[in-house]
Amino acid sequence: MSRIVYVNGDFVPQEEAKISVFDRGFLFADGVYEVSTVLEGKLIDNSAHLARLRRSMAELNLPSPASDEEIEEIQAELVTRNNITDGMVYLQVTRGAAERDFVFPADPKPSLVMFGQTMNIRDNPKAKKGIAVITVEDVRWKRRDIKTVSLLAQSMAKQAAVEAGADDAWMVEDDFITEGSSNNAFIITKDDKIITRNLGNHILKGITRQVVLELARDKNLTIEERPFTVDEALDAKEAFVTSATTFVMPVVRIDDQPLGNGAPGILTTELRALYIKRAMEA
Ligand code: PDD
Repeated sequence: MSRIVYVNGDFVPQEEAKISVFDRGFLFADGVYEVSTVLEGKLIDNSAHLARLRRSMAELNLPSPASDEEIEEIQAELVTRNNITDGMVYLQVTRGAAERDFVFPADPKPSLVMFGQTMNIRDNPKAKKGIAVITVEDVRWKRRDIKTVSLLAQSMAKQAAVEAGADDAWMVEDDFITEGSSNNAFIITKDDKIITRNLGNHILKGITRQVVLELARDKNLTIEERPFTVDEALDAKEAFVTSATTFVMPVVRIDDQPLGNGAPGILTTELRALYIKRAMEA
């Protein structure tokens, strides 16, 4: 059976899900998106994702095509119609179709596209082994706090990682790691301090990042939200990334150098378990 996709008011089989070639999302990457996790048919931290969507739209003066309640109804419908137990729901808002012009249209008709995907998030085999990352230059624009669909730099970073035999890339600016290609980056120092980039325009304010920091605080772990260098990362005891679709994912190699004994770290493994427990109880 074909996947059912939502496009501007209609639920249609994916083959029929179409958008105009004049859509500004297609021509200018003039759009924003969110990815919410589904666990046992339930959306995790969805209100935080919708709040971030509102902020991304506001920063770009992008009118909203639907209320939070309407979006939530569509998300639930996609989960049901596509029988998603564990996976994600993707949503994208663009400024819609208009004559090609760099200036925003005066009367935009924003597009809303949403679809779901089944994924094995909880028992992802990569979480047992950990992932290898390479470092690449962060060539993105300066408003990384906005979750735009302009993802070519991240796509290139991840492609470079895969071509190098790694799983993902950590992006580096002025010798400091900003974040992963589609996740936030963390290291744990030899004296058990958790370090992750402070919020600002340099990185996306990850929803999973916020939750994991709360869980770490509850465990009385020391947290430093500050830039960290590639050398600090190479010298770390543990490392991990966070995102809606990976939760807490251990990083065991950076630029071909193993961290610790090359296996997922103890604290990382514990934080992953705590995160999953919290998500299942939500
Ligand atoms: N990516 N940083 C970047 C650049 C991201 O693209 C993402 C998420 C995150 C983590 O955010 P969150 O914890 O809210 O998922 C950080 C999504 C999953 C994606 O593009 O598929």
